[in-house]
Amino acid sequence: MSLLEKIIETKDFLVEKGLTEPEFGLILGSGLGELAEEVENAIVIDYADIPNWGQSTVVGHAGKLVYGDLAGRKVLALQGRFHFYEGNPMKVVTFPVRVMKALGCQGVIVTNAAGGIGYGPGTLMAITDHINLTGQNPLIGENLDEFGPRFPDMSNAYTKAYREKAHAIAEKMGIKLDDGVYLGVTGPTYETPAEIRAFQTMGAHAVGMSTVPEVIVAAHSGLKVLGISAITNFAAGFQSELNHEEVVEVTQQIKGNFKGLIKAILAEL
Ligand code: HPA
Repeated sequence: MSLLEKIIETKDFLVEKGLTEPEFGLILGSGLGELAEEVENAIVIDYADIPNWGQSTVVGHAGKLVYGDLAGRKVLALQGRFHFYEGNPMKVVTFPVRVMKALGCQGVIVTNAAGGIGYGPGTLMAITDHINLTGQNPLIGENLDEFGPRFPDMSNAYTKAYREKAHAIAEKMGIKLDDGVYLGVTGPTYETPAEIRAFQTMGAHAVGMSTVPEVIVAAHSGLKVLGISAITNFAAGFQSELNHEEVVEVTQQIKGNFKGLIKAILAEL
C-alpha cells in the first residue's frame, strides 16, 4: 500500500470512529500527556487498534489517541508520540501529522521535553525555529503532491501569529514564556558536552529527540505550528549528569503551568 493509501485508510477508520471535525492536533511530549485527560466528550482509541499507526514504547508516553473538546476547540491529541530512536522509520514518526492534515486540522501544537542551552529546568520555551541535526528528513522519498511541494519552504515553519498569541496569553496569565531555537537530534543518547558546546555556537537554545520530523511534515502540508518546549534539565556539560527520571520529574513540576497555558492558547487560536 502506498503512503497516500495508508493515510486515507487511517483517516477513514478515524472518521468512522467519530473523529469528524478536528481543528487542532496536539502532540504531547514526555510527561505532558496528562493534558489529554482533560479532553471532554472524549473518544479514546488505543494506538494498537489504529491501522498503519506506530507503537509507543517510552516511559511517560501512554499510547492513546484522544479526540474531543478542550478549551472549546475540537482537538485530536496524541498521548505519546513516536520517536526515531525507538526504531520507527521517519514515515511512521510523522504519520500522525499526515493524518491530522487529512482529517482537516488547521494547526498543530507540538510539545516536548528538552535540554536547555542557556535556559534551565522549568523554563517554557516557544520554538521560533529549528535546526535539523537528525541526519534524516521525513520527506525523503516520493513526494505527496496532494499535501505539498517537493521542495518545501521552511522559512516560516513555526507560525508567528500563533507564537505571538502564546506570548500575549502567557503574559496575561503571569507565566514566563521564553523564545528559542530547538535543535533536533535522534537520541537515544543524551549529547556529549562537546556536542552541546557546538550546538550553542550554532545558535540553539534547546536540544531534544523529537519535534523536528513532525514539524517538517506539518510545514510541508501548510499546517500551522505552535511548538513549546518544556526545559527539563541543563544540557550536557552544564549539569553533572542527565537521566530520563529527572526529565519526567521536572515535567511533573511544570505541567500545571503547561496545561493551563496550552488550554488558554487553544481557546484563542
Ligand atoms: N537532550 C536531549 N533530549 C532531551 C534532553 C536533553 O538534554 N532533555 C530532555 N530531552
